[in-house]
Amino acid sequence: MIRAGDLIASLTSRFAAAGIDDARFDARLLVAEVLGLAPGRLSAFPETEIPAALAERVEALARRRAAREPMSHVLGRRGFWTLDLAVSADTLAPRPDTETLVEAVLEQVADRAAPLRLLDLGTGTGCILLALLSELPGATGLGIDRSDGALAVARANADGTGLAGRAEFRRGDWADGLSGPFDIVVSNPPYIPDGDIDALEPEVARFEPRTALAGGADGLDCYRLLAPQVAALLAPGGLAGFEVGQGQDGAVAALLGAAGLLRVWSRRDLGGIVRCVIAQA
Ligand SMILES: C[S@@+](CC[C@H](N)C(=O)[O-])C[C@H]1O[C@@H](n2cnc3c(N)ncnc32)[C@H](O)[C@@H]1O
Repeated sequence: MIRAGDLIASLTSRFAAAGIDDARFDARLLVAEVLGLAPGRLSAFPETEIPAALAERVEALARRRAAREPMSHVLGRRGFWTLDLAVSADTLAPRPDTETLVEAVLEQVADRAAPLRLLDLGTGTGCILLALLSELPGATGLGIDRSDGALAVARANADGTGLAGRAEFRRGDWADGLSGPFDIVVSNPPYIPDGDIDALEPEVARFEPRTALAGGADGLDCYRLLAPQVAALLAPGGLAGFEVGQGQDGAVAALLGAAGLLRVWSRRDLGGIVRCVIAQA
């Protein structure tokens, strides 16, 4: 048997040597996950003995993390908004920054009980759509993705969050073949310039699906396609919300304006970066 404190210390050194920034945080989380305990409890009781079978399970996960597989893939889930969501190699792991888009959209909704119709283009795990549905009890939503693997995860997340009755997920190429009107259309499309992807941290560059990242030469290809599609699908007064990469807000706002949307504004994330552009039809 090994003590939890010793195991966490040795994993911390191993993860730090692999270049992982939050080495101790990840080590504690992995051990806590396998033991089924809250991470804080392990810090309070570092002498907790870990049976050999469980230490082997920790080791199997630790090997993957040391190879820079993201924690969300290793654990198979990630928290987003108030939801605990499944994540797989077919999906982008939901980011805290994306909660900015959820907040920015929600603050524009005057009546949260209204029977709104929502559309999420490039839904991935379904995180944005499910977070919105969890706050808008009268709304129904459609999530589109071109990845069958992502759609399977999104459907499982709708079941797991109790929102399946109001969420539908369908395979599609952006908004092709869809008919509106929708009250709210959201999208966090791939927006990394193709040439920048290989320089990203290994967790992203090596393990997240390239089809969730690559936004063309300047990162803006998807917005060019989406702006007119979304403008055509919105109900009068409807809202469009897009996540954008750092420095892309001006170009995306211009594309939405050119597509005929009337009021266009942006929101910063907690790090002070303009993270989403919102527009009203
Ligand atoms: C940046 S990820 C965002 C996923 C999720 N909405 C989130 O915020 O975590 C972009 C998503 O768009 C999907 N996608 C890429 N091209 C697409 C297309 N032509 N039509 C529909 N979905 C597409 C990808 O499969 C991926 O799931």
